[in-house]
Amino acid sequence: MILVAPSILSANFSQLGKDINKAEESGADWLHIDVMDGHFVPNLTIGPQVVADIRPITNLILDVHLMIEKPERLIPAFCEAGADLITVHSETCPHLHRTIYQIKEKGVMAGVAINPSTPIVMIENILSDLDLVLVMSVNPGFGGQKFIPGAVSKVAALKNKLAEQGISAYLQVDGGINAQTGLEVVKAGCNVLVAGSYIFKSSDISQAINSLHQLG
Ligand code: DX5
Ligand code: ZN
Repeated sequence: MILVAPSILSANFSQLGKDINKAEESGADWLHIDVMDGHFVPNLTIGPQVVADIRPITNLILDVHLMIEKPERLIPAFCEAGADLITVHSETCPHLHRTIYQIKEKGVMAGVAINPSTPIVMIENILSDLDLVLVMSVNPGFGGQKFIPGAVSKVAALKNKLAEQGISAYLQVDGGINAQTGLEVVKAGCNVLVAGSYIFKSSDISQAINSLHQLG
């Protein structure tokens, strides 16, 4: 089964609640929330208050993707705001094991993301502690970018490692996902697809989500 996580980065922020309700009614499984700090990535988005305001208006799993330096400073606030899952970037965490357990100790699922230029060896020693691995298929910072094909072999390699070690972590891909690129990564072993522009810029959100569900 493929889970679909629409990224609200491509929603209309002047009517965010409406767009979230629409995604939920259209069959979304999770809601992907991109947090950017203008340092780790060249863009700014939202903080914990927005997550706290979203929490009571949806039953979707709140999947918070932290593209921020020193994420440990804000993890408590995002946990309190109601995140169900928090993903940090391996590139921002010199003490990744400590950061992962900071999240898990709050009863929140923990994930690690790797950028297109980061090899999977950087996270091999922590796979068994994770609830989710996120392979970025664009350089993080903006929606609507082109899928970088090198993500496919990384997903396949990670899928093998997870299977070899009997680890049931989700394998998520984020960036440039549509029905074509989604199929490639699903074939390689991805089971959670993040999609922003493909879903929110579509004239038929329900059909867009359904087309990703059907890849599994
Ligand atoms: C990129 C973000 C993505 C983004 C994906 O930095 O992490 O979640 O919203 O957008 P699309 O699907 O348009 O590439
Ligand atoms: Zn994201």
